[in-house]
Amino acid sequence: MSVSLTLKNISRRFVKDNEEFMAVDNINLEVVPGEFLTFLGPSGCGKTTTLRMIAGFETPTAGQILMDGVDITRVPANERGLGFVFQNYALFPHMKIFDNVAYGLKIRGEKGEAAAKKVREALAMVGLTKAEHRYPNQLSGGEQQRVALARVLVLRPKLLLMDEPLSNLDAKLRLHMRTEIRRIQQEMQITCLYVTHDQKEALTMSDRIMVMNRGHIDQLGTPMQLYEDPATAFVADFIGQANLIRGKLRGVDDQGWGLFAIGEKVLKARLGKQNPPTVNEKALLVVRPENLTMSASDNAVPMRIVNRLFEGDRIDYHVVIDGSGQEKPFSMSVPFLPGTQVIDIDTLVNVSFTPRAGVIIKG
Ligand SMILES: Nc1ncnc2c1ncn2[C@@H]1O[C@H](COP(=O)(O)OP(=O)(O)OP(=O)(O)O)[C@@H](O)[C@H]1O
Ligand SMILES: [Mg+2]
Repeated sequence: MSVSLTLKNISRRFVKDNEEFMAVDNINLEVVPGEFLTFLGPSGCGKTTTLRMIAGFETPTAGQILMDGVDITRVPANERGLGFVFQNYALFPHMKIFDNVAYGLKIRGEKGEAAAKKVREALAMVGLTKAEHRYPNQLSGGEQQRVALARVLVLRPKLLLMDEPLSNLDAKLRLHMRTEIRRIQQEMQITCLYVTHDQKEALTMSDRIMVMNRGHIDQLGTPMQLYEDPATAFVADFIGQANLIRGKLRGVDDQGWGLFAIGEKVLKARLGKQNPPTVNEKALLVVRPENLTMSASDNAVPMRIVNRLFEGDRIDYHVVIDGSGQEKPFSMSVPFLPGTQVIDIDTLVNVSFTPRAGVIIKG
């Protein structure tokens, strides 16, 4: 049932404000059968355009799209056998839930008891068996979104494409629907391409994430690979929060640790595998706020606290390295427990991290 999908040098050029530009610029991608792959990136980076080309709603200006090895680049959308769930899921308001879900089958000419069985199976899949006689306005936003999903699943698509399907829901429902969508996708073993600009959503749901930036792929990998070994500063900052400390790679020690110099101070950290810097060249040290602590270890730099944000369970200290020329403060997020000593602004503290928690990439 599940299919593979290949994008070969896919590009889409648009004319915007009388100028040509590449909304999608030479994307290569292999999606394996049953995989849940997410396109993640900021607004305008080309996520929707890529998805629309796969769906057949948009024609690539260059490149090929293959499904199970068969070229579908010129195949019309309705012959591709795909399901598409949009951000705006507009159900038919005058139709009962049952009829909303049955609609696609009807268009295909499927009717009667066999079609009804399929509709009920799809409703059961999204946990809405009892809602079949209700109208869309009698359902919550999350329930409506699940109907939208059932409406697509009932057609047994070979490939499921979803473009920000959760962005109209409130925060709590979004969390719930993440697990629901993932469960259904795994149960049906359906290949799924999912678009979001919410990194938490991408991290929790996906087998792999394709991080896009201005029409390019910045990095493609599992959520953990992206988090632990970002290829670029953009990915480091987009996936989770990251401090990007400028310096130089001084060398590599005999155990393979990178030696990162900030002025005279040398710190040990992992060398990025995706994009390792060259010795004696400019480099970036990536350390997450939650991995910085105040302690006098070997792997520490003195920093001055310039701001302090109390967040309840944590305190976010903004710190700078005096004289380093890096004016934008770094963030050090430390747990706050009752009785924790709070440090005042302007205090000079030793900020340290364990070498494993830092990664050095090209600057
Ligand atoms: N039909 C079109 N004509 C001209 N430019 C377009 C067209 N469709 C999209 N674009 C432009 O292409 C770029 C990519 O758009 P796209 O919709 O793929 O972005 P996105 O990553 O989905 O963003 P968002 O997160 O805001 O939905 C944007 O700069 C957009 O303005
Ligand atoms: Mg979009």
